[in-house]
Amino acid sequence: MIDLTGKVFIVTGGNSGIGLGMAEGIVMAGGSVVVWGRREEKNAEAVAQLKSLGGQATGHACDVSSEEQVIAAMQASVEDFGRLDGLFANAGRAGFGTKFIDTPLDEWRAVMAVNLDGVFLTLREAAKVMVEQGEGGSLVAVSSTSAVHGAANNEAYGTAKTAVNGLVRALAVALARHKIRVNSLLPGWTITDLATNAYESDVFREVTTKRTPARRWADPAEFREVGAFLADPSQTFHTGQEVCVDGGYTIF
Ligand SMILES: NC(=O)c1ccc[n+]([C@@H]2O[C@H](COP(=O)([O-])OP(=O)(O)OC[C@H]3O[C@@H](n4cnc5c(N)ncnc54)[C@H](OP(=O)(O)O)[C@@H]3O)[C@@H](O)[C@H]2O)c1
Repeated sequence: MIDLTGKVFIVTGGNSGIGLGMAEGIVMAGGSVVVWGRREEKNAEAVAQLKSLGGQATGHACDVSSEEQVIAAMQASVEDFGRLDGLFANAGRAGFGTKFIDTPLDEWRAVMAVNLDGVFLTLREAAKVMVEQGEGGSLVAVSSTSAVHGAANNEAYGTAKTAVNGLVRALAVALARHKIRVNSLLPGWTITDLATNAYESDVFREVTTKRTPARRWADPAEFREVGAFLADPSQTFHTGQEVCVDGGYTIF
């Protein structure tokens, strides 16, 4: 049903996990994807995977916390396909797990640099291109159920994800006149590299599995369809929303 033929989307952190799942969904719907991540070899693997699904894909090494790198990667990405129809600000890092009263400022800033500054920088640069292009499009920021539920020893992560939701609401208003939709995605517990430590802790995995009505963690491939949905230009009235894909975690 969703046809993304001729449309081009950047997925930051698209070389792994949830980002790769959404990138797969975009190419399976006919779109093209530019993958951003710091590790060139992981980017190349993801590009090969996306091409094996019949899509067009390229990759660029970029640390989203660096303004200089984001600006350079945006220019290179637009040159790849000659247009931009959206960006998924998905790149993120885990927190340090430090008790709040022991949290040093540099740990706080390291989480904010990727999970908040990185989202700001990538959405800003994408919006510049899309406003100039004048054809609208879709911006998506990957938040978390951590923006809804409090979690001890994870304050910086939860704060960044909550701020991302605020940024998305503000941008949905600011960019509506340009026909650019802006939504956030709140994944629940998903088996990815970022969450490996949590998943491998028997106690934590059992508690979070019981706490999730679906009684399991998600597989990244389960984000294919929502990736294509959020990219879909025919969703012309869907903006400013938090889309939860969490097995029912936040309503239980
Ligand atoms: N897994 C979960 O349970 C869960 C739940 C809620 C929300 N999320 C969110 O989902 C998003 C994707 O995470 P994931 O779980 O799929 O983890 P993942 O498989 O570890 O993927 C993280 C991605 O982000 C990239 N990345 C990390 N730091 C970066 C930086 N500074 N600049 C550019 N790219 C960077 C990584 O690539 P490089 O290392 O090559 O840079 C990788 O592609 C994150 O925003 C995360 O907070 C995850």
